[in-house]
Amino acid sequence: MSEEPILQLKQIEKSFGETTVLRDITLDVKQGELITFIGPSGSGKSTLLRVVGGFHPQTGGTVVLGGKSIDALPPEKRSTGMVFQNYALFPHMSVYDNVEYGLKIQKVGKAEKDERIREALKQVQLDGYEDRKPSELSGGQQQRVAIARCLVLKPEVLLLDEPLSNLDANLRVIMRDEIRRLKEELNLTIIFVTHDQEEALSISDRVLVLKDGIVQQLDAPSVIYQHPANEFVANFVGHANLMEGTFKVEDGQTFFQAKKEEGLRFPVEGETPSNDSGTVLLRPEMIERDPESRHQGTVEKAVYHGNYVRYYISLYGESLFLDDNNPFHKSLLQKGEKVGVSFPKHLHVLPGK
Ligand SMILES: Nc1ncnc2c1ncn2[C@@H]1O[C@H](COP(=O)(O)OP(=O)(O)O)[C@@H](O)[C@H]1O
Ligand SMILES: [Mg+2]
Repeated sequence: MSEEPILQLKQIEKSFGETTVLRDITLDVKQGELITFIGPSGSGKSTLLRVVGGFHPQTGGTVVLGGKSIDALPPEKRSTGMVFQNYALFPHMSVYDNVEYGLKIQKVGKAEKDERIREALKQVQLDGYEDRKPSELSGGQQQRVAIARCLVLKPEVLLLDEPLSNLDANLRVIMRDEIRRLKEELNLTIIFVTHDQEEALSISDRVLVLKDGIVQQLDAPSVIYQHPANEFVANFVGHANLMEGTFKVEDGQTFFQAKKEEGLRFPVEGETPSNDSGTVLLRPEMIERDPESRHQGTVEKAVYHGNYVRYYISLYGESLFLDDNNPFHKSLLQKGEKVGVSFPKHLHVLPGK
């Protein structure tokens, strides 16, 4: 990955009539980087992708590709390849003809065309499927055709709008790995849209979190998950217990004291906020079952997930949930049972409201 941005969004604004759906969006994408746009339905992910692809001209700001503004260019002149959610394959045409389509429009010579089609089909592991119709392919294979149809045009940036949402859970994970592999093998620059937080965390170099057309955070997946910029990000990407409280020092030891309950107080390490109070993030896997702990709660609900059990507990009047990982050799607690829990020493404090 080189450090020069291949794609730059500069203060992008987009309104449909009176309604503003994107506000002041600035982003540099590096060559070979995979950036995911994530946010709830209606947050502006597709609109922003379409602005980049030239399908919706923005109402403010500039899109720069390879150092030049592409604002005046229509989609087909932009060197941005778009894969749509429904694949948009031509149903009556073979795989080969589908992939050929863009090259025909560009009037690429026969020999080169054939070579590029075969190369693109090989890249998505569909060599041998040239003569099939889309209806003779699985969902995953159709998705590969849609990607090959873009790759064959050698776009500088590949734009993928929820490309995996029509696939079943297992295939989604396989295709996610495929896209990562393609990105690495071909040094592709990709913008990937999803509303699935696990997908975003596992596929991306960086994640851009959108809410109501406003960027909430742009960071590496681990930073987004461990150090969310605000409550929205904390709750949208992963699950979160958010607890208000105060940091207090006694005999050289810092404690976090929950605002609601006197009894909920535990030692912490590391930096504390300058105003001594704040909302802390407790991911469910950060709270551990610990029979020895002085914090004894009551199980309100237990949900078995196989690889973990999620316990909803009440503790001194606070409602919390925790994930008990690897439950194979542990007793499964039932509603009403006592559960001891211990808290992490290092806490992420959300910025003040
Ligand atoms: N062509 C359009 N005309 C009017 N409003 C639109 C149009 N396209 C999208 N919107 C609105 O823009 C907002 C963002 O939509 P979209 O980008 O599709 O969200 P997302 O992809 O995050 O679900 C929504 O409120 C949607 O109704
Ligand atoms: Mg969308």
